[in-house]
Amino acid sequence: MSLVAERHPSGLLSSAKVTFPALLEKKRVHFPITALTACDYTSGRIVDEAGIDLILVGDSLGMVALGYESTLPVTIEEMLHHTRAVRRAVHRALLLADMPFGTYQVDEAEAVRNAIRFVKEAGAEGVKIEGARPSLARRLLTAEIPVVAHIGLLPQGINRMGGYRVQGRTVDAAERLLAEALSMEEAGAVMIVLEGVPDEVAAQITETVNVPTIGIGAGSQCDGQILVLHDILNLSFTTPAKFVRRYADLGAQMHQAISEYSIDVREGRFPSKEESYHLAPEVRAAFFDAIGKRSSEQIETDAVGGPLSENLAELRR
Ligand code: KIV
Repeated sequence: MSLVAERHPSGLLSSAKVTFPALLEKKRVHFPITALTACDYTSGRIVDEAGIDLILVGDSLGMVALGYESTLPVTIEEMLHHTRAVRRAVHRALLLADMPFGTYQVDEAEAVRNAIRFVKEAGAEGVKIEGARPSLARRLLTAEIPVVAHIGLLPQGINRMGGYRVQGRTVDAAERLLAEALSMEEAGAVMIVLEGVPDEVAAQITETVNVPTIGIGAGSQCDGQILVLHDILNLSFTTPAKFVRRYADLGAQMHQAISEYSIDVREGRFPSKEESYHLAPEVRAAFFDAIGKRSSEQIETDAVGGPLSENLAELRR
């Protein structure tokens, strides 16, 4: 499969590598940025080849790929492992990795060291951190690590927020989100993910900051949109949030395919002759000869009057 050539704002078809400056240019010309998560080689390859601009190895993989209840238990080793797999698959899209809970909240020096691992050991082109952390963003930038801020609904903050709740619903809270976005832009964040935010607030932030905003449950006015791949394919075993649009029911399709396979095996319909390897006729004959067994073809030939009848006649004698 070849890379999808994308119609670029310049009017040219482009399959060029996506970079942070290229995404900034998209914001400038109001050309929507597409983003999705991926968590392994297969999903990374398909998402990249479909022409998505930005691939996030999100810590949501803890829930959709590892079966955790939330993103909180995800470890740095798990994130690095999955990021490496996606890295091997992705050639065009920009590859971003989530820093998991506990790897950047305690100590900034440790956070920088952890972020470096994502770039150096796993090939990420930037890291995403949750919350407004301008001081950490500055340190990451000094270490040449592009940092993406994630504000609004913070999945790593569910205990504090009391669940997955839309943020910024009051004037104060909306102003706070705007201030957070500005503080992260000022600190050098290259992009801002807005999750679970009223569309008016997201639109205002998008208009105010000069870096691209990527929305998830943040309305249509952001510079781009991101969703969790497993959610849009119905592979996440949950009732989807209001902002998720399901583009395929791969869960049902996989279930159906696997059930059919299982029935075929049980009923002897798989594999067929065509799905099996066969010996060349002379090898088969020699092989059966060697082990003193007749091939089924030989038995058939015999049944219509060949050597079998002779054999039977012999037996009857
Ligand atoms: O972990 C994740 O998948 C995210 C979202 C922004 C999609 O952070």
